[in-house]
Amino acid sequence: MAGQRMVIVGAGQAGSDTAAALRAGGFTGAVTLIGDEAAVPYQRPPLSKAYLAGRTDAAGLELRPEGFYGAHGIERVRRDPVARIDRDRAGVVLASGRTLPYDRLVLATGARPRSLPVPGAGLTGVQALRSLADAEALRRALAGARHLVVVGGGFVGLEVAATASGLGVPATVVEAGARVMGRTVGPEVSERLAAEHRARGVELVLGREVTALEGDRRGRVRVVELNDGRRLPADVVVVGIGVLPAVELAADAGLEVGGGIVVDARLRTSDRAVYAVGDCARFPSPYAPGRLRLESVQNASDQARHVAGQLCGAPAPYTAVPWFWTEQYDLRVQIAGIVRAGDRRVTVGDPAGRFSVLCFRDGLLVGAESVNRPADHMITRRLLASDGPRPTPDEAARPGFDLKTWQAPASAQAPAQPQASTQAQAPAPAPA
Ligand code: APR
Repeated sequence: MAGQRMVIVGAGQAGSDTAAALRAGGFTGAVTLIGDEAAVPYQRPPLSKAYLAGRTDAAGLELRPEGFYGAHGIERVRRDPVARIDRDRAGVVLASGRTLPYDRLVLATGARPRSLPVPGAGLTGVQALRSLADAEALRRALAGARHLVVVGGGFVGLEVAATASGLGVPATVVEAGARVMGRTVGPEVSERLAAEHRARGVELVLGREVTALEGDRRGRVRVVELNDGRRLPADVVVVGIGVLPAVELAADAGLEVGGGIVVDARLRTSDRAVYAVGDCARFPSPYAPGRLRLESVQNASDQARHVAGQLCGAPAPYTAVPWFWTEQYDLRVQIAGIVRAGDRRVTVGDPAGRFSVLCFRDGLLVGAESVNRPADHMITRRLLASDGPRPTPDEAARPGFDLKTWQAPASAQAPAQPQASTQAQAPAPAPA
């Protein structure tokens, strides 16, 4: 390992965690972490919550203190993004023209927000929420805003609406689908979230799309027009209609891409010297047929550690249990496993209060969606990671069933292989 050069492209959760895990694993060669932002690598989940609400500042978001990188011999390259990968010479060429040679390259390029393909999407006051700069701009815009319209009722849209509501800014969410968070949770959790938003005064407009945004003479957004003719007043518009994986560098370098950077079970791209981790990677998983791309801190962090472990000499397939969470008001929604349409769903608890929906495929527990039931979430994660027994749907449906009686050992080993259902729709936790 001594003398080896690791170059990591992307300094988000996946990139920063890869660098840190290389050092934690005893890697003694050179580590370079290249980001296109000036900020110390930071956590994104609080951007739409604590940071937007003003409960934390930028320093509170740092994944690791600034001094960590230097102290661990990790060179940070900032504001000089990678322009291209030169695989023939095993180097990355930066925008400045500087070339950094690598022995192994890790792509942690993440994802970018989809933009709204309608007239007026470029007006002042219309923005996405992905970066710290986005969150800073939105925080400023919300102070004094009279009406927020959020386009997209997914993770970003609902979290922003909840925060805005807490700040006293009236908010309307326009969601194209028939229910909120339809990509990631089932109808029970969607209904619980929708009821909470409405109870807090947020208007949810479901099954409608934005056809145009109109501005005033100074180019500031004023109206959001919907496909039913409604015109919503707005002085701030947040677009949260999903993200697209940042695959351009990989594609231009001739690596296989398709709905993400395509990797094998060990997270290697079609070039064995190049790995991809986090939101940008499309990987085979024991939890779903075909390949998955997941947008989550868990996936970024676990894949980072996994690749670092391999680079430190421990090759193995990536099998971490996927999980996700969102917080809105005092609801903490936690999702374990990959749930698909067609899975049998059994609700445990009170659907208007604290509950979990346990999900089964071919009689096997494959996931759980929990609202303020963190123990169910943790137990499900452990059960999915173990090859031990799991509750059946009939057991779960019995009155008085409690998942706590199914505590599995924390050190559970290989995951069981869920069967693919021929009826199932594409799992697509992340849009390809
Ligand atoms: N108009 C209205 N709604 C739309 C439109 C549209 N034109 N296009 C898509 N949508 C809806 C989708 O139906 C979906 O409910 O936008 C929602 C997008 O939700 P997500 O897929 O969860 O994406 P987003 O909220 O942007 O979050 C992107 O960021 O917080 C992270 O990792 C998290 O995966 C998440 C990612």
